[in-house]
Amino acid sequence: MPLVFARPVAVLVSGRGTNLQALLDAAAAPDYPARVVRVISNRPGVAALERAAAAGVVGAVVDHRRFADRPAFEDALHAALVDAGAELVVLAGFMRLLTDGFVERWRDRLINIHPSLLPAFKGLDTHARALAAGVRLHGCTVHFVRPAMDAGPIIAQAAVRVGPDDTADDLAARVLRAEHRLLPAVVRWWAEGRLGVHDERVRVAGAAATDGALYGPELEG
Ligand code: GRF
Repeated sequence: MPLVFARPVAVLVSGRGTNLQALLDAAAAPDYPARVVRVISNRPGVAALERAAAAGVVGAVVDHRRFADRPAFEDALHAALVDAGAELVVLAGFMRLLTDGFVERWRDRLINIHPSLLPAFKGLDTHARALAAGVRLHGCTVHFVRPAMDAGPIIAQAAVRVGPDDTADDLAARVLRAEHRLLPAVVRWWAEGRLGVHDERVRVAGAAATDGALYGPELEG
């Protein structure tokens, strides 16, 4: 049984929903302090909705094509989130840009997971672009959302090494494994009340700094 006081989180999705799955799996643990109360997709029939149903979470479709314009779509989205009682909204592979109005309504209660070490590689095709740039370390970022795309105070990042023969798919798979650990950890910190935003920088209460450096390639000797 989840904690009765577990804090309510809604997840916005557009596709396969593996990050949603990671959160659902984490939330199934009895001591996890958050629970997914609603999964909302802007596309009908996506795998993420099946994952929600399998976990017994109410799924909803707010199909952007059914609305005259973006504000009308976002009003419906907002109403669905309020109806669900969500205190935090997680963008997990949600492929619609949100307007300033929506983002401001959910300021510091809206987080996104992005497959790069921001501020590098905003936007799409991050893994192919990382390979093309020859970076040695790549990764993922969870951040509070601000009006500009893939911008906003960074909460946490995970770095992975880039191998000499990696394809974009190899790299995507490695980063995705890191995403699946990072997102549930961040939602836990939020639910525990440990995230603070001051001057657009995030402090995670109780988080220890370590001296460990991640080298790519690994150093010899
Ligand atoms: C992830 O790589 C996430 O970082 C990005 O979109 C992808 C969604 O994958 N925003 P999934 O739907 O969670 O499997």
